[in-house]
Amino acid sequence: METVVLQSLSKTYSGGKLAVRQVSLSLNQGEVFGFLGPNGAGKTTTVKLLNGMLSPTEGSCQVLGINPAKEPEKVHRVSGVLTEHAQMYDNMTGTQNLIFYASLFDIPSREARSRTESLLKRLGLENAGAKKLSAYSTGMRQRLSLARALIHQPRVLFLDEPTSGLDPESAQNVNQLIRDLAYREGITVFLCTHQLRYAQEICTRYGLIEDGTMLAEGTLEELRHDVLSDTVLKIRAEIMPAILPFRKSGENQYELDIHSDSEIPHLVRQIVEGGGDVYDVTAQKPSLEDIYFALTAKGKGEAM
Ligand SMILES: Nc1ncnc2c1ncn2[C@@H]1O[C@H](COP(=O)(O)OP(=O)(O)OP(=O)(O)O)[C@@H](O)[C@H]1O
Ligand SMILES: [Mg+2]
Repeated sequence: METVVLQSLSKTYSGGKLAVRQVSLSLNQGEVFGFLGPNGAGKTTTVKLLNGMLSPTEGSCQVLGINPAKEPEKVHRVSGVLTEHAQMYDNMTGTQNLIFYASLFDIPSREARSRTESLLKRLGLENAGAKKLSAYSTGMRQRLSLARALIHQPRVLFLDEPTSGLDPESAQNVNQLIRDLAYREGITVFLCTHQLRYAQEICTRYGLIEDGTMLAEGTLEELRHDVLSDTVLKIRAEIMPAILPFRKSGENQYELDIHSDSEIPHLVRQIVEGGGDVYDVTAQKPSLEDIYFALTAKGKGEAM
């Protein structure tokens, strides 16, 4: 089932900045979509369009069939959003904040209490519920914002940099939560992030945007196929026969770009026959980070 749909979505700000250009996309239920791109690429603008905080200049979008520009309240009932500056109340405790936001969604108070307790626990804030928000650290605030986005059990979750400012353990925790929400509870997650390694651990599909334009979209395998198909073969060997085209990358370390894993046995055999003892063979496929840099650099190259 398609849960989030963008059709030639474009946004020009009043000052004339074209922030999102003709972006088309469709997400299925339970997907964790990684929306990646450099600063100023148009990610937050897209999230704001999907939440009805901004209206498109051209094109349209739907969240569970609802047009956020026309019926933002309806979209807010079925979706949760975590943006950079979530509005919450400093003079209230974490628990009070969550219960207050639950009341805005008409959640009965007993249910609101139990959801609040369980979310605080899931986000490692069980000891912080009674503290005023003014005493929260950046990372605690960030996690409470995520709890707030989840209080009404949304079907779609928009997360703009959910792990920025979190320590590695909290970030892992949040990533595990995102994974559980998507895989176990079937929530669709639209995730803007710069943290490519985390993204590679939890996303099922990616979109790369730069300067408002989608550069590529697909699963990691699809992006590898379209953008960087080469595998780097890394070999640790005592001797490397000079006739082989390997480059030296360190002490007893050699590298070669190959197109297919089927090249590996023949290469290893040649090294051994040439008198080299092989200690380690690794076929390293391009990471999301490699693809990101190849694409964004290519985009810049074309623009020049
Ligand atoms: N309210 C606004 N008025 C005018 N221009 C804006 C406004 N908000 C954003 N922009 C511009 O639109 C472009 C896209 O910004 P956006 O915030 O969507 O980028 P982003 O991909 O979220 O970047 P980051 O990774 O830094 O969060 C940028 O050039 C930005 O300067
Ligand atoms: Mg942003």
